[in-house]
Amino acid sequence: MTSPEATVPAAQALGPASQSLPKLPESAIGIDVGGTGIKGGIVDLASGELRGERFRIPTPKPATPDAVAEVIGQILQELLARPEAPAAEDLSVGVTFPAIVIDNVVLTASNIDPAWINCDTSQLLSDLPGRTFTLNDADAAGLAEARYGAGNNLAGTMMTVTLGTGVGTALIHDGVLIPNNELGHAQFEGEVKAENKVSAASRERLGMDWPEYGEVLRRYLVYLERIQPVNRFIIGGGISQNPELFMPYVTGLRAEVVIAQLVNNAGISGAALFAAEQARLADSQSS
Ligand code: BGC
Repeated sequence: MTSPEATVPAAQALGPASQSLPKLPESAIGIDVGGTGIKGGIVDLASGELRGERFRIPTPKPATPDAVAEVIGQILQELLARPEAPAAEDLSVGVTFPAIVIDNVVLTASNIDPAWINCDTSQLLSDLPGRTFTLNDADAAGLAEARYGAGNNLAGTMMTVTLGTGVGTALIHDGVLIPNNELGHAQFEGEVKAENKVSAASRERLGMDWPEYGEVLRRYLVYLERIQPVNRFIIGGGISQNPELFMPYVTGLRAEVVIAQLVNNAGISGAALFAAEQARLADSQSS
């Protein structure tokens, strides 16, 4: 077993270019768009914790871009009316989707409405308050774990694997996100997509008991390790709240395997952090 050894200093964690960048604001807003709920919160960017309760609205059906944008607007309105809300002139909003997102354009839609494909979210969300940046949901969770949770700001390469309706993967090296890793869609043991066998939903659909599922997860991590060796895997998603059910079977990997720490709010925290960093980067490039 190897584990990342050095702690990455805060500035270095963002990559060399960040060392001359101004400080981040104290807080930002993160919104996590999921299949059943859209959840938002005000995130303290120093700790990754939420300031106040998170706010959730059920995902509209059908979850078309316009319908989801309207819900995102309602969530922002509720959060911005709170006394702890970030100042309007300093507002960054991060929004996650269960999809590949490049330059704020959604490129895939495996577990969301197909109308999202090629949707430019900077246009879709341009009427909303603040500066909005969008990213993949697992990437947001991975960023939050790397900075505030089970990654503990360590140097080296870590992959967060989220197990839910689908399987998301997020690759972080020395604190820097390499986005859209998407190895839940890699072919695995005869499945076109690994998530057809490895997701929490697939466990239920296929009637696997926990030892059987733990063994499938172990083989999947061994497979991931061959594609992309890492120092540490962080296992996230809803089922990471009950690690004792499957972790005893996840053994024999070269990398360290740990459980996510932020479970419920990882997407929200990571989205807020991502947005604040993107806004700062955009400002530094334009000045
Ligand atoms: C999607 C990924 C997403 C993951 C977790 C997969 O089906 O393709 O983009 O990160 O589910 O929601």
